[in-house]
Amino acid sequence: EGDYGALQRNNNDEVWVSQRARPRRNRKSPAIRSMVRENIVTPSNFILPLFIHDEDFNQPIDSMPGCERHSLDSMLREVGESFELGVKTFVLFPKVPDELKTNYGEEAYNPEGIVPRAIRMIKEAHPEAIVVTDVALDPYSDQGHDGVVENGKILNDVTINQLCKQVICQARAGADIVAPSDMMDGRVKAIRDALDSEGFTDVSILSYTAKYASAYYGPFRDALDSHPGFGDKKTYQQDPANGRESLIEAALDSAEGADMLMVKPGMPYLDIIRRLKDYSPLPIAAYHVSGEYAMIKAACQNGWLNERDVVLETLTCFKRAGADIILTYYAKQAAQWIKEDGLY
Ligand code: PBG
Repeated sequence: EGDYGALQRNNNDEVWVSQRARPRRNRKSPAIRSMVRENIVTPSNFILPLFIHDEDFNQPIDSMPGCERHSLDSMLREVGESFELGVKTFVLFPKVPDELKTNYGEEAYNPEGIVPRAIRMIKEAHPEAIVVTDVALDPYSDQGHDGVVENGKILNDVTINQLCKQVICQARAGADIVAPSDMMDGRVKAIRDALDSEGFTDVSILSYTAKYASAYYGPFRDALDSHPGFGDKKTYQQDPANGRESLIEAALDSAEGADMLMVKPGMPYLDIIRRLKDYSPLPIAAYHVSGEYAMIKAACQNGWLNERDVVLETLTCFKRAGADIILTYYAKQAAQWIKEDGLY
């Protein structure tokens, strides 16, 4: 009477579909779910990128609502507040005025440039904070490229020479970790040798190992005013269609002395994160880039997604894919949500 064939009755005459495994038992309460949870994001996994400029005001970035170019004082406040929430690591990106930009990007190793000054300010006020610097010429290049340009080509080895000067300048100012994002061949070894020969054996290298020529960097280039002056970055950044190529880069970077390997962008490249995790025992970082941030923001501003839930889910998925470290513009906000919810 109303029962279908598959159903049986148990000893209490209740409907029963006979089966041993019921995966839902491990999901039956918050306590059980948290006991069996495989991956948890904590604020100490995050690196917060900070845009800085040499002005005494903050400049909002239209394509990244909620982010701004900070004055150095404001940057310092942001570091302090984030540190209180458990975010301990920061990466600096300078917006450089046009008059300081050149093909060789000499401003990249000016000891009184904005990045060395910012590093010194942070390390003085918060000695426990970890400062990461981006290594590439693009913020300083009048060509809008990561390297030195000659006849429309990006010169690999000449660029590395400039990057080594940049790294030594950053290390002298107190950088804890340098992060080459330029994708020149052989730069990790050259940077390691340069650091070591100047006595900076403790400065770490977080290499942008698998960095793709991605359309998701648009808002970042708005923030730094660093759109390529001509062409694109496809002769040095990887083709989004290629996965195995990342393993070549990972093999080279680890042999050359990288301490951590990064995949960038994040969400569309979770397979690459997993491949590098399986390939290398080094810590793996994922960069949740500006365009990914902008997409989430836009949808949430329209009321189409729940920002808190979608961000915490996204960050957890990076960990599940294999990321130990996550660079995200949401670092401070996510740390706040995690704290409010007592999520760990
Ligand atoms: C440049 C650099 C880029 C980003 C980090 N370092 C942009 C680019 O390669 O053009 C992008 C970060 C983001 O989009 O959030 N060396």
